[in-house]
Amino acid sequence: MTSVAGVPAPPDAAVFRGRAYADDPYPVLKMLRDHYPVFQNPVTGHWMVTRYDDVIAIFRDQENFSASPNGDHIGAVFGPTLMEYDGAEHAKLRNIVAPEFVGLNLKALLPVITRNTMALIEKFTVHHARRMGEQAAATGVIDIVDDFATRLPLNVILDVLDLPQEAHEVFHTWYPAMMNGINGGPQLRIEGQRANAEYHAYLDPLIEARRLAPGEDLLSRLVHAEVDGQRMSKDEIKSFASLILVAGAETTDKAIANLWYQLLANPSQWAAVQADPDLLDRAFTEMMRIHGPAAAQTRRAIHDVTLHGVTIPAGAYVHLSLYGANRDERVFRDPDRFDLNREDLYFGKELRYGYHQDGRASHVGFGLGPHFCVGYQLARAEAVTGTRMLMDVLRNPRFRPGTTPGPIAIRIEPWHLELEFDAA
Ligand code: HEM
Repeated sequence: MTSVAGVPAPPDAAVFRGRAYADDPYPVLKMLRDHYPVFQNPVTGHWMVTRYDDVIAIFRDQENFSASPNGDHIGAVFGPTLMEYDGAEHAKLRNIVAPEFVGLNLKALLPVITRNTMALIEKFTVHHARRMGEQAAATGVIDIVDDFATRLPLNVILDVLDLPQEAHEVFHTWYPAMMNGINGGPQLRIEGQRANAEYHAYLDPLIEARRLAPGEDLLSRLVHAEVDGQRMSKDEIKSFASLILVAGAETTDKAIANLWYQLLANPSQWAAVQADPDLLDRAFTEMMRIHGPAAAQTRRAIHDVTLHGVTIPAGAYVHLSLYGANRDERVFRDPDRFDLNREDLYFGKELRYGYHQDGRASHVGFGLGPHFCVGYQLARAEAVTGTRMLMDVLRNPRFRPGTTPGPIAIRIEPWHLELEFDAA
């Protein structure tokens, strides 16, 4: 890249289309933070905002920025959900669903997480013992993705909605198809919409049954929930059930796999967690900062907004880079280092508004402000509990030789994280 008076030339379209950026966007994001903190992406036309303070300010600013772009891709597959609404319309739906996943309700979910983790470990152990018996090998192999991470959050969500676990395999094909429909091109969009339509057809009779005879499950509660004397329409219930299925499964599976990746890639941190498994909570927080599952969120400028001397015109889309913000060296010292002892990161329960009163900053991997992730406590509980239980049964786990592991974000290609462990 050429430089004018010490300022590097801005990245061009080839950079954003390139494999290097897809695999490791951090060097480009650093350059943007340092020299082009508000930058129009030449491929998408969206205005990229990459510094922590700017990202949190925009997330919180409902007067100037709308969440309506969530409707373009998420809404196009699921139908309208709370994610694309602003103000009172958003608050009405959020008040119905948010309490389901926090506080006492989350406590009730902990046995569900433990039970599902145990069932997966049992299944894997039996499968592993059979394979070992056949091969008489001294090492075992687990694909954290296929054997565990893509299974646990899905099974938990199926239980939360009280949908039969026997249907697991079909859900296991629906939810990635729906996610790829959100992020992919026209053909993937059609396939995602088809998977969503099949899921909705599957839900129709179940919703009717719960109308007549409600249970304790989330689907029943959605059917009967009332806010200001209003109930959710059947379409609202179904598109929310899509959101929960995909948001609950697709993101948390990446979180679990990334937690394993970061720990094994950083042996001293892994040793610390093995010595004191309570540190897994900190490890989860630091994983969400250094490379969480979601790279960015999009907002639309309602009015012209000028930031760092650049005017984002009304109507334009703004790309809030979670990856950029979470590695902003203005906030996090030595931000590319995975460190459970860092003092600049707030390690308590996630904050919805950025900085803690003691000055430390929360990661923004769950977003921020009014649309802050509804499932943040559930995701953490699944990743931490699941990892803790799995750690107990895998002896001396390490990356499988011959594989090239890396952290993962939501993306379309299939992905794996294969580990080897001592069989006996
Ligand atoms: C590590 C796992 C997860 C990550 C990284 C994640 C990330 C996010 C992010 C970044 C947002 C903000 C979207 C925006 O501002 O436009 C969000 C919203 C949301 N998430 Fe999550 N999420 C995770 C797990 C979950 C789980 C387990 C559930 C539910 C079971 C869930 C349900 C939702 C819902 C319903 C919203 C929309 C909230 C609103 O619009 O008010 N998420 N999530």
